[in-house]
Amino acid sequence: MNRKDLLGIEDLSKEEIEEILKVAKSMEEILERPIKIAPTLRGITVANLFFEPSTRTLNSFTLAEKRLSADSINLVSSSSSVLKGETLLDTAKNIQAMEVDIIVIRHSIPGAPHFLAERLDASVINAGDGAHEHPTQALSDLMTIRKKFSKIKDLKVAIVGDIEHSRVARSLIIGLNKMGAKVFVCGPPTLIPKWMDIFDVTIKYNLEEILPDKDILYILRVQKERQEESLLPSMREYIKYYSLTYERLRKFASSKVIIMHPGPINRGIEIESRVADSEYSLILDQVISGVAVRMSILYLLSRKKIDENSN
Ligand code: CP
Repeated sequence: MNRKDLLGIEDLSKEEIEEILKVAKSMEEILERPIKIAPTLRGITVANLFFEPSTRTLNSFTLAEKRLSADSINLVSSSSSVLKGETLLDTAKNIQAMEVDIIVIRHSIPGAPHFLAERLDASVINAGDGAHEHPTQALSDLMTIRKKFSKIKDLKVAIVGDIEHSRVARSLIIGLNKMGAKVFVCGPPTLIPKWMDIFDVTIKYNLEEILPDKDILYILRVQKERQEESLLPSMREYIKYYSLTYERLRKFASSKVIIMHPGPINRGIEIESRVADSEYSLILDQVISGVAVRMSILYLLSRKKIDENSN
């Protein structure tokens, strides 16, 4: 991989995805050591700019940076001068002026990372931009899938829930398509976007029809915060038709099925606790892969600079 920024799965070739996953596997070896630290990114400075809440992405980037000995700073919107009227670009330029090499950004506006990437010398990593893309989540999921099944090609993956507002779904569908998996999406018609037919996916509206013979059920949260109008009659109705309950799982899905979810999960809404905590669930494995994948991306984007510094 020889690029300045990581903005979306859409931009990545299959070979680049393979390289990120390969390097992530070697990063996992660092995470399994008693002392989980390597000097790989010594001298590299990373700023994590988060203008939307995050538990998994912010903390896994922060840990990935620490594990590779980078210097890092975190700026969250509630404590930034954006609240005093500073523009996003001015904020980012000021951060860059502090000799920052990589800016990791989460923002509610689609394209915000691309906007910065065009205007900054620092590398930019998209940590989620509105309902557009969440590439590091998709790469973590691809790593988790590969670890479980030793392959991605030809697996049958059903993504269930609020596809319309999900950057995770968009990045994952693109990634799974590139890696040769068979992708299905399922949800209420109001939460399946009209642009879905640009991807190689099969659309179903009935959960019980999509459950049989899938290798993976990837469940999504209903993103009420991104809905400008009510797209569902009620949450009670959503739960009735689309919640993955243990009873539905056992009745309709394969006994070998795997459950995934990017988090945060809303227990009792899109997924029953008994399913989220079951032996079928890889939800916490996705989080573990997240640290290794983010270490891999930070290293691959800095590789040129590391090589220049060592010469
Ligand atoms: N999956 C994900 O992006 O989680 P966070 O919002 O907690 O980062």
